[in-house]
Amino acid sequence: MYSKPSNLQYFLFSFVSLLFLRYAASTYFETPQQMSLGVCTTVDQPNPIASIYPNNATGTLNGTVAIIPISLALARQLIPSQYGILEHAYRALLPDFPQGMYPAIVQALHDHEVQAFGYKIDDFSRTGIEFPFVDLLNDNHTSFKWAPSLIMSAGHDIALKGAADYGTNVFPAFFDPGCDAYSAVPHAEKPGTTYFSGRSLNGAEGITTLFSSTEDELFPLSFFQNFTNQPTFADGKTCDNMIRLFNTSVTTAPNGIERVKGTVRANIHPFGEEQEWSGVYGLRMDTAFIENNYLSCEDFRGYDGLE
Ligand SMILES: *[C@@H]1O[C@H](CO)[C@@H](O)[C@H](O)[C@H]1NC(C)=O
Ligand SMILES: *[C@@H]1O[C@H](CO)[C@@H](O)[C@H](O)[C@H]1NC(C)=O
Ligand SMILES: *[C@@H]1O[C@H](CO)[C@@H](O)[C@H](O)[C@H]1NC(C)=O
Ligand SMILES: *[C@@H]1O[C@H](CO)[C@@H](O)[C@H](O)[C@H]1NC(C)=O
Ligand SMILES: *[C@@H]1O[C@H](CO)[C@@H](O)[C@H](O)[C@H]1NC(C)=O
Repeated sequence: MYSKPSNLQYFLFSFVSLLFLRYAASTYFETPQQMSLGVCTTVDQPNPIASIYPNNATGTLNGTVAIIPISLALARQLIPSQYGILEHAYRALLPDFPQGMYPAIVQALHDHEVQAFGYKIDDFSRTGIEFPFVDLLNDNHTSFKWAPSLIMSAGHDIALKGAADYGTNVFPAFFDPGCDAYSAVPHAEKPGTTYFSGRSLNGAEGITTLFSSTEDELFPLSFFQNFTNQPTFADGKTCDNMIRLFNTSVTTAPNGIERVKGTVRANIHPFGEEQEWSGVYGLRMDTAFIENNYLSCEDFRGYDGLE
């Protein structure tokens, strides 16, 4: 009863601000970058669930999600010390995951046709390193995903503000490709090699991914479904309930989910210096999503993503 008007207000407010910013920008200082936001066309399929949930924020997320094994000791240093790590929860899903290790996540995504209440916002890209299976409520049970930092499309005021309101460190950035989930590497040695890269405007933060098709299945799809649907937080004051659906036409089409293996180079908080991980396994896919924003984290006590 409370979140509905606040979601609506948030969308209306953002929409009006964007119109204003657009107007101001085009009148006074239209830059090539602001112009390109308008003309950038994507190959992404339309949002298949907008008409099913007209009063919710919905969209599609196309891109690559991969698991970066890091040492549990490093994870313990990076994740704020007041939150436990639910090792038994990820081991229940991945019994063979190496001892002493923790599955960090890289997401490199293009957000497409995000809309609510009949208002659609421009597409944007984003990438970051996330930390699932975090015991935010100290109940030794409910898994949350800590997403402290995001590299996001510069100029997209709604998305940037939307993330910053969670306490996320937001880095406005340029992306290559500019308005798609990834691009093929021409004349690549390995089949199905694609890249995606985001670099902050000041050049300090960046993530670059290079992935090729693989037959190997190191992690089951159910593991990806599990962590992508954990409520997400940054400073812990509110939580984002991003419900990713794996059963709509954008995902169930032939080759809708591709297994990939590759390399991730990242320079982003909370890592102190540039990292490079190779032999990283993930999925390249598009999923529809429903997003419920700025919720009480406490209300997710016992939530297992299954509703
Ligand atoms: C849609 O939004 C309403 C109001 O915020 C919320 O109660 C409901 O759970 C959302 N639907 C889904 C499928 O998440
Ligand atoms: C996802 O993005 C890739 C790269 O742009 C594109 O080839 C593919 O068709 C997209 N998938 C969907 C379902 O839109
Ligand atoms: C995710 O995994 C945990 C166990 O680690 C389980 O309790 C929960 O039900 C799973 N959720 C989904 C959506 O699979
Ligand atoms: C958390 O739960 C797991 C699985 O039930 C159990 O093995 C572990 O001892 C518990 N940890 C604490 C600190 O209670
Ligand atoms: C997909 O799954 C969701 C949640 O599990 C369910 O509510 C919805 O009806 C399903 N949609 C389709 C198209 O099967």
